Amino acid sequence: MIDTHSHLFEEDFDIDRDDCVKRCKEFNINKVIIVGFDYYTNRKAQEMAKKYDIFYPTAGIHPEYANKDYNEKFNELKDFIKNNKVYAIGECGLDYYWSVEFKEEQKILFEMQINLAIENDLPIIIHCRDAIKDTYDILSKYKGRIKGVMHCYSGSLEMAYEFIKLGLYISLGGPVTFKNAKEPKRVAENISIDNLLIETDCPFLTPVPYRGKRNESSYVRFVCDEIAKIKGMTSKEVEDITEANAIKLFRI
Ligand code: NI
Repeated sequence: MIDTHSHLFEEDFDIDRDDCVKRCKEFNINKVIIVGFDYYTNRKAQEMAKKYDIFYPTAGIHPEYANKDYNEKFNELKDFIKNNKVYAIGECGLDYYWSVEFKEEQKILFEMQINLAIENDLPIIIHCRDAIKDTYDILSKYKGRIKGVMHCYSGSLEMAYEFIKLGLYISLGGPVTFKNAKEPKRVAENISIDNLLIETDCPFLTPVPYRGKRNESSYVRFVCDEIAKIKGMTSKEVEDITEANAIKLFRI
């Protein structure tokens, strides 16, 4: 099983990161995509990947950090990926929930990162919050040239089909296990398993039965189990197919 979106470098794990990794191995989670989102965490991801063999690092700039200095930030990222092995660009994207102050800068920085991914033949990890139309409009300009994943997808089933048409995977996380999460469950039920990835986004969005506590990568198994239940498949089938999807996308 693969957790395709994890922030195990966060301070929340400083006291027991070794144990978190041990628990991953115990539950057969043998690969974890460690997702950077700014100058500092992109470096953290590299550092940790040297220490833990199940970690695969990425680098990107989260839309939350888009501001007037976007050019400088982008050039720094560009240099960084020249000198470091990364498995994806991101997370990047649009987030109008946190801030609409730098909407234009967010869009420009997102497109810069899409182009960087294309130039380097890398997948994109896309963060989208309260910005689904603009995210789609930007991505659709690059149809046929991009590969990547809509991480912790929270949009409608109808839009999920549109993102799949652009060549993207849909990744589901903890929210699919929440009782009241109608739309993620509808997405899980209806889209083909061949288009799905699973993730935790830990330390956030903890799945049931640990909802409210700190999330960690080994909990991706609860996401896998829930999707299996919804789709009427075995957990093993969901595990095997989503794992194959992730291996193909990230080339890991
Ligand atoms: Ni994240």
